[in-house]
Amino acid sequence: MGVTDGVRLGDIELRNRLVTSSSLLGYGVANTGFYGMSPIAMLVPLRRFGAVTTRTLTVEPREGHFTTRDDWAPRELPGLLKRYARVLRGVDSGFINAFGWCNVGIRAYLRDYYPRTRDQRTIISLGGFSAEEFVTLVDTVNQAVPVDHIAAVEFNVSCHNVNFDFSRILDAVLADAVPRSNHPVILKLSPDVDYLDNARRAAAAGVSALTAINTVKALRMDPRTGRPLLANRFGGLSGRAIKPIGLRVVAELRDAGVALPIIATGGIRTVDDCREYFWAGADAVSLGSATWLASYPGYALAPLRALGVRRVLRAVERIPDPRQRSAALP
Ligand SMILES: Cc1cc2nc3c(=O)[nH]c(=O)nc-3n(C[C@H](O)[C@H](O)[C@H](O)COP(=O)(O)O)c2cc1C
Repeated sequence: MGVTDGVRLGDIELRNRLVTSSSLLGYGVANTGFYGMSPIAMLVPLRRFGAVTTRTLTVEPREGHFTTRDDWAPRELPGLLKRYARVLRGVDSGFINAFGWCNVGIRAYLRDYYPRTRDQRTIISLGGFSAEEFVTLVDTVNQAVPVDHIAAVEFNVSCHNVNFDFSRILDAVLADAVPRSNHPVILKLSPDVDYLDNARRAAAAGVSALTAINTVKALRMDPRTGRPLLANRFGGLSGRAIKPIGLRVVAELRDAGVALPIIATGGIRTVDDCREYFWAGADAVSLGSATWLASYPGYALAPLRALGVRRVLRAVERIPDPRQRSAALP
């Protein structure tokens, strides 16, 4: 079930060069009839994207710092919103979040969500705290998903808000889990660690592509009390604020001679943002915060935001050849 008219990034087949970043559109479909909680996603058909990357899935379900429930009654809404404000805030031209990998677990995803996303191209994001967990995740996906039915699996070893030092397990994860995967493996890089070294290790281990970047480790406090805004104290910064950092990382990867395909994510919202990332050396671009996050009043503008997303899709869909990057962008 590969893609006939799509684009290839090494052995990864995408429908086009615009994908969506892990988590922002949940699992691609939601039990409640909504796509995650993104009003924008309801106005843009997800099958149009090069691929939709799922929320990071772990071996067992995880509450993280939020919740896995999606059956909140209207009377519970105030409590839910209060909880929400402790894991996600709009700050300084971006967003800071610490959901802590709340997810239903890989088996529930494959049973309850994945079958309803067959019209989409999917990248399944996987996260764990040991090589064994990554091996279990890869084996579980291998068993449930035939070759070519998804674009890739993405290893998330770059998240700050689960408070874990992934450098301890990276080599073992690459050595044990990458060769077992029937699907191409993407490694997601953090801008806060030695991403050049990690990219080289990934290439040596047979990883097919890199996603750059995950959120930037960040802190915001209430200026009067010094109390951190987020329950986890530290969170990950996303959105416009990190675009220059994402561009730096992609350019530095290319300057260092890293040849793997790069899916760029970090503050992308417009066609010009995509142009910049293609110039920096990206092979595909990914919409994260732009597909979902806004201030509450901002959600009223979801139809306009959706039009913007459609415009970016149309422009990026027209790029046939990776070597003609920005020149080909209308
Ligand atoms: C609310 C939120 C949740 C996220 N959850 C995940 C996640 O579960 N796994 C992951 O690899 N990245 C996660 N990310 C990071 C995004 O996939 C993306 O790499 C990052 O936000 C940068 O892109 P952006 O600036 O366009 O949002 C999350 C980002 C946000 C804002």
